[in-house]
Amino acid sequence: MCGIIGYIGNNTAPKILTESLKKLEYRGYDSTGIALLDNNSRLVIVKASGTVNNFKKKLDLNKLTGKIGIGHTRWATHGEPNNINAHPHTDCNNKISIVHNGIIENHQEIRHSLEKSGHKFLSQTDSECISHLIEEYLNNNDDIEKAIRHTANTIQGANVVVIIHKEHPNKLFCFKVGSAGGLIIGNGNNEMFVSSDIPAIIPYTSTVTYLSTNEIAIISSEKVEYKNLEGISITKKTNTIEINRDSISKGEFKHYMLKEIHDQPQAITDTIGSRVSFTDNKIKFEKFPFTNQEIKEFSKIILIGMGTSLHACMVAKNWFESITRIPTEVDNSSEFRYRDIILNEKSLIISISQSGETADTIAAMEKFKSSNSKQITLSNSPKSQTSQIADYTIDIRAGLEIGVASTKTFMCSLTTLYLLSLFLGEKRNSLEKTKITAQLSELAKLPRIISNMLDNQNQYKIIAKKYYPYSNFLYLGRGLNYPLAMEGALKLKEISYIHAEGYPAGEMKHGPIALIDQNMPVVVLIPKDKMLDKMLINLNEVKARNGTIIAITTENTNYIENLANDIIFIPKTSDELIPIIMSIPMQLISYHIALNKKCNIDMPRNLAKSVTVE
Ligand code: M6R
Repeated sequence: MCGIIGYIGNNTAPKILTESLKKLEYRGYDSTGIALLDNNSRLVIVKASGTVNNFKKKLDLNKLTGKIGIGHTRWATHGEPNNINAHPHTDCNNKISIVHNGIIENHQEIRHSLEKSGHKFLSQTDSECISHLIEEYLNNNDDIEKAIRHTANTIQGANVVVIIHKEHPNKLFCFKVGSAGGLIIGNGNNEMFVSSDIPAIIPYTSTVTYLSTNEIAIISSEKVEYKNLEGISITKKTNTIEINRDSISKGEFKHYMLKEIHDQPQAITDTIGSRVSFTDNKIKFEKFPFTNQEIKEFSKIILIGMGTSLHACMVAKNWFESITRIPTEVDNSSEFRYRDIILNEKSLIISISQSGETADTIAAMEKFKSSNSKQITLSNSPKSQTSQIADYTIDIRAGLEIGVASTKTFMCSLTTLYLLSLFLGEKRNSLEKTKITAQLSELAKLPRIISNMLDNQNQYKIIAKKYYPYSNFLYLGRGLNYPLAMEGALKLKEISYIHAEGYPAGEMKHGPIALIDQNMPVVVLIPKDKMLDKMLINLNEVKARNGTIIAITTENTNYIENLANDIIFIPKTSDELIPIIMSIPMQLISYHIALNKKCNIDMPRNLAKSVTVE
């Protein structure tokens, strides 16, 4: 959650920090702030509640100077999202300034003890402990590195911190303990950058180093020294990042979300990419770590994730079961991490986290590392924290996703999971060769199908105009489309703030049916598949109760028109792949409704792109 930035070099820090914060804003937008050591050797802090644009209004960039500074966009955990609680925070003597991402679990204890020693706290945050702790340690020993290491060892929980100190104007300090989001150090030309994520760094350099847990970095404009928390120097590998700089701009689109929806035909092509050889219908995952024998012996698959990634798991459960014939279960990472589940070396945990930073998913993966089970993770950021835990990482290749609502990462996760199920199925001989050939040929058509679907958004605009004033929606689906009903409801509630629930259609008459009347639009996912007859029964039940039906169906199922108030047609593909194209109506209904409601689509209230706290 929270975006962190740091700069040291010969350029004007305030401008670089502010521009970079804009690129990290998707991580939190409750407040914005920067701290600078200015050209008159003063520690200057400017902060404001709300977004970076709001902050910019408060700031006269031309009046600020300094070649070193830190910045922060906040997703509030402790204390309201106001100006005082905004980062950066400082110590009693205004010498130290810090920005922080994570949760300090023992902050109350630390605060209490520091207050007893005379420290005055200004904010309600846990973060402010850090600047006061460093100050306290420096009162007893003037070695700043030692004080920072001591602080890193004292605070409990998962935390990432960047620090500047007035008496050390040529150094930025940072440390990471646990998995509270990434910290990337970018090497420029006589300048260095620190950031929570790549978009803020990529305009300046593509040479980066990832700080790992229990590491500290001491950064000057020419070099970076890495140490562990005992103060022993360590050598770290530098990476060159490849990222399409265009993917950072919205281009012709009004919102990142809309751009990212339109990126999907290309994204899915990239996901399939070199993994499929269409000449001999083979699927390949580079350096797949498990032998054919191990694959044959898998006795259980557990898919874990949160939010949209969990919905991808729910779809994939059906694929893994039917294609690989391995018993498969799904769990929400935040529940899974506390289960007393029985696992062994024949169990395969597949985690999905597009950011690779989701705290609950990381914790679940870490917890079951000792169970000897095998772990595969899917990520859109293959050097992320989840990949450091798993035995194998699969890059979903969606390209950078900035909009808080996941769209193309969902589609690419689904596509990757489908390929993985076919790959495992082939190795286990649980799938006939002709079936693989047929499915791959259907898969190859998806980019074109999706592109055609995106060319005609009129039906979504009409539906959105008619339905945006409603306050409640129900989404119903069965089988592979039940998770899509959940995903449709999630998309709608998160960006339009309309209450929406996704249900398996069969569950409707066990309770939710009581809600149905003409004021409750029911979005029914009813493609022409093996569940059609069952879904028609549900459609009739809604109709009989005067419900308002928006049906989403494949072309040529005209009889549904007699029952539905409105109908959206999607193209035909194989039953297995319907959820992939069904994600388009789920995204576009929500997008156009939120547009009508004039919501802040890319940065919905209370949310952030990566959830790095429990
Ligand atoms: O980065 P992750 O895939 O682990 O994120 C998990 C959820 O926070 C995420 O899918 C969230 O539900 C979506 N942004 C909703 O659109």
